[in-house]
Amino acid sequence: MPLPNLHTVEGVLARFNEDLNAAQTAHERQAIRDRYLGRKHSVVAEWMERLAAAPPAEKKHLGQLTNTLKKELETRWTERVEAAAALAPPADAVDVTLPGRAVRLGHRHPLTVVRTQLEDIFGRMGFTAVEGPEVEDEWHCFDALNMPAEHPARDMQDTLYLATPIAGDGPGDKRTLLRTHTSSMQIRYMQSHTPPIRIVVPGRVFRRDDLDLTHSPAFGQIEGLAVGEGISLADLKGILLAFAQQMFSPTTRVRFRPSFFPYTEPSAEIDLSCWQCDGRGCAMCKKTGWIELGGCGMVHPAVFEAVGYDPERYTGFAWGIGIERIAILKYQVEDIRLFYENDLRFLEQFPY
Ligand code: DAH
Repeated sequence: MPLPNLHTVEGVLARFNEDLNAAQTAHERQAIRDRYLGRKHSVVAEWMERLAAAPPAEKKHLGQLTNTLKKELETRWTERVEAAAALAPPADAVDVTLPGRAVRLGHRHPLTVVRTQLEDIFGRMGFTAVEGPEVEDEWHCFDALNMPAEHPARDMQDTLYLATPIAGDGPGDKRTLLRTHTSSMQIRYMQSHTPPIRIVVPGRVFRRDDLDLTHSPAFGQIEGLAVGEGISLADLKGILLAFAQQMFSPTTRVRFRPSFFPYTEPSAEIDLSCWQCDGRGCAMCKKTGWIELGGCGMVHPAVFEAVGYDPERYTGFAWGIGIERIAILKYQVEDIRLFYENDLRFLEQFPY
């Protein structure tokens, strides 16, 4: 394309338009103005010089053309500058081209992660997760679980009793307390449901302990309860084995050590083969090859009687496991207090 002829008004205007269209910034637009309309060395300045040098006969015509050109250039430039100003964002506008501020994503607390894993694993085996009240009456927490009045766990030294009694819905004593275990929900659930039952009860429990490396006055447990006809100890062991292998290692083994709980007969402590050394003995299992997890057993007939179930017809099993205990073992945490202090330097080490 030939360059527009800068000696005709049309030629200059055509070139001016091209230049103006290409200009992106106010600075570039000002440069164009200088080039065309500036006092010296501009296109219009050249036209003026030509006019001055023109023979008298041409002066009038050339003067009119120069004037027209100058006015037209002024008008077009001003229009463009005003249009650009109208498009420009106001001074306090948000600059949407700036990169965004990264939102800091939080994640779940390690105890919540463990609790959810527990609920998921037992959920896949048919156990429904239910919750119960943290403020309990003595009957649900102890009596109905076959724990007599003189049982040491009921002592003022171990249990946090509340000053104001609430009306319990079981018979007998109505003293109120903060539940010392999730086992009280076994009673509540059986009172309001008929077998078959398969539940897990995650939740907080309270004991009159000082906070130290391994104790906390409030901590989490997950209770399990299955009740039906023909349920045996083998079912209990199978469920706990399947749980342990999903939670810790596919080669984990379960060992039952005879124990005593008033609400189960027989009762056992659940030991798992150490998943660090696969039972050979290491620092984590204190060279024993086994790790203690919690208590379990077959539901005691006296418990069924307390909730009005026929102990001749129904059998069942139950277990109770500490949630912190699992988290401590899984993540090798040295101090239980770290879970409660909300120190991000600790919590950020769990990328969930
Ligand atoms: N309630 C017991 C505790 O807090 C744990 C427990 C043991 C729960 C045996 C059970 C069980 O259901 O059968 O230490």
